[in-house]
Amino acid sequence: MNIAILGPGGIADDQHAPAVLNHPDTSLWSVLSRSAERAEAFSKRHDLKAPNPAHTDLAELLADPLLDAVIIATPDRLHSTQVLAAARAGKHILLEKPMATSVSECDAMIEACRTNDVTLAMAYHLRWHRGHRLIRQQVSSGMLGALRHIRVHWTFQAPDGSNWRSSPETGRWWALAANGTHCLDLIRWMMMPTEGEITRILSLQSSTKFGSPHDETSIVALTFESGATAEFCVSVQFDSPSRIEIYGDTGSVLLDGTMGRHGGGDIVLNGVPVSFPAENPFQAEFNDFIEAVREGRPPEVDGSEGRRNVALLLDAINAQNNDSNPI
Ligand SMILES: NC(=O)c1ccc[n+]([C@@H]2O[C@H](COP(=O)([O-])OP(=O)(O)OC[C@H]3O[C@@H](n4cnc5c(N)ncnc54)[C@H](OP(=O)(O)O)[C@@H]3O)[C@@H](O)[C@H]2O)c1
Repeated sequence: MNIAILGPGGIADDQHAPAVLNHPDTSLWSVLSRSAERAEAFSKRHDLKAPNPAHTDLAELLADPLLDAVIIATPDRLHSTQVLAAARAGKHILLEKPMATSVSECDAMIEACRTNDVTLAMAYHLRWHRGHRLIRQQVSSGMLGALRHIRVHWTFQAPDGSNWRSSPETGRWWALAANGTHCLDLIRWMMMPTEGEITRILSLQSSTKFGSPHDETSIVALTFESGATAEFCVSVQFDSPSRIEIYGDTGSVLLDGTMGRHGGGDIVLNGVPVSFPAENPFQAEFNDFIEAVREGRPPEVDGSEGRRNVALLLDAINAQNNDSNPI
């Protein structure tokens, strides 16, 4: 299969291009940038295979009959338009998170992929971390008894306020879109098999460091159908070690440094270190996308999961905006 990348930025360079190149049955075919120079440079860097691989016009890139699929790794506000265009051109789509910036956009994206019979997979690579998969299997089968609480903490320090996520033109959330969307996905994925859906959300945001119109720090608290609870803290204001803590009636799991692009970190289950293969989660995510297309089955993380995540991110912001009880 021939794969194009839309948005030759950080995650495309670092993870998506290598994943396509490492797959035995895919070719990195073409690329879309706003700049001809950047498209050419990306093509050279990753040895793209199309006769004319470097594009600045999306319709032109999509008109290529030899192109099978696109990986969309552009700013969040661009996702919806690009997914609609790719679906209408009959190209399968692996889409970076968060899916879009409104629920109505997500609905239109899902419908366009359905009517044009193309696969839409969401890039929540932390579900492909081998340690996370092992722990999910164990907590779902009752290793900790009934689950009571999950706490997730994941921050980094942005160099300044100029990131596109901070601009309403290109993003709608900052910390919530950079890390929060992953935390939310991971919490739902771990809890839902036994604790049901999220039924309540509360949140606090701060933007005091860079003066961003979007959240620089977000603290979100959640309740599940069973009554179990969860919380996560994400920030672009400061560096700190990442951590996931899962508590049940008969034990706990602590996951240190497992968030991020690598597949590593340390996991301790009921006081005992857990070993797992530290494999690249982006490769497994891409492999699943290709298999889903080939087999005509849904990908592991589909558009409905992306849509639910966007709805909850919006709820998180609204929960703070509707706070009627400030001290
Ligand atoms: N799964 C993960 O862990 C993970 C990690 C990082 C990012 N992401 C997601 O991947 C997507 C891209 O993020 P990134 O960190 O790779 O961002 P990035 O490094 O800024 O790259 C985004 C690329 O999009 C292109 N672009 C098109 N229009 C743009 C605009 N108006 N402003 C800025 N860039 C524009 C740019 O390429 P040209 O300038 O050449 O057009 C840019 O290189 C986002 O949806 C993000 O949430 C996911």
